[in-house]
Amino acid sequence: MKALILVGGFGTRLRPLTLSVPKPLVDFANKPMILHQIEALKAVGVTEVVLAINYQPEVMLNFLKEFETKLGITITCSQETEPLGTAGPLALARDQLIDKSGEPFFVLNSDVISEYPFKEMIEFHKAHGGEASIMVTKVDEPSKYGVVVMEESTGQVDKFVEKPKLFVGNKINAGIYLLNPSVLDRIELRPTSIEKEVFPKIAAEKKLYAMVLPGFWMDIGQPRDYITGLRLYLDSLRKKASTKLATGSHIVGNVLVHETAEIGEGCLIGPDVAIGPGCVVESGVRLSRCTVMRGVRIKKHACISSSIIGWHSTVGQWARVENMTILGEDVHVCDEIYSNGGVVLPHKEIKSSILKPEIVM
Ligand code: GDD
Ligand code: MG
Repeated sequence: MKALILVGGFGTRLRPLTLSVPKPLVDFANKPMILHQIEALKAVGVTEVVLAINYQPEVMLNFLKEFETKLGITITCSQETEPLGTAGPLALARDQLIDKSGEPFFVLNSDVISEYPFKEMIEFHKAHGGEASIMVTKVDEPSKYGVVVMEESTGQVDKFVEKPKLFVGNKINAGIYLLNPSVLDRIELRPTSIEKEVFPKIAAEKKLYAMVLPGFWMDIGQPRDYITGLRLYLDSLRKKASTKLATGSHIVGNVLVHETAEIGEGCLIGPDVAIGPGCVVESGVRLSRCTVMRGVRIKKHACISSSIIGWHSTVGQWARVENMTILGEDVHVCDEIYSNGGVVLPHKEIKSSILKPEIVM
């Protein structure tokens, strides 16, 4: 089977992290977002993944080459010369997606995290016999998403409305599709939206089916949702693979610590923390609801909550970093500094406190 991952967009909502790498390569739970998806696709027998890209393809491919061999999966790139939206890239990659078998293929938004129930989705798709299947999930704020109105018993979709202004329902498109090759005949090679131009038509012909996604789901393309997503991901890990989580008297709730990270004496870590490879957390540090990416050093008695600390940054001793502070790559926060929601661009040194949420350039 094949799969296409939509990797376009500049990831502006996840800046400053996306100033260093394309959004799909931003680490989530100690692993680039896109690797969570590729590994899950591989697990259900996908042999080839096409990345639909509209900028920096070299960065992505260089990075993923290593995983091609490790995972035993072919990763190719389909590059747009202009952004083709969420459907145009499928037309562009048409020849890469179709094979003689006529099998359906997966399409994923690159910024969604879940337990990726692909196996259940294949079964669902086979059983309904329609042209396309999409995963849906319930959310409190449906207006930010594509809303799906469906018949509960069969999953047949009546209506698909992208970012509705008026309430039509609370089941939303999770950005995970399984499509028959015939769907490609409906898409022209031009900038076009699968949500606005393709799904509504398939739904009108009663050939679009939706399956309610089991387990958690989150679009982690914005800092707040990224932090919530980590909590949901770690909750799910607790249920499915709890041995991967850290244990000890200094750990509170669900915490992921990379095996190469060092944790000093008298720290209190958790809940909902991910500490990446090569990090050094000195003694007496307090961490909660945060992500600490590869190569970071947190000095003595620093306290970090609800924040993301980008690659190779340092946080000084007795510093307090909180309230959606996002440090880009290689940022240095001096000793005893307070950051309340600072969004700091890469390679900066923070010498005075950031008292209210603001961008530090
Ligand atoms: N190749 C390519 N080219 N990819 C693109 C382009 C493009 O021009 N534009 C967007 N993408 C990719 C993004 O990188 C992302 O993986 C996916 O298409 C969806 O774009 P977003 O910008 O993240 O859309 P959204 O989050 O506002 O809405 C989408 O996702 C929701 C779920 O998170 C829609 O699919 C909604 O219907 C859905 O509910
Ligand atoms: Mg998104």
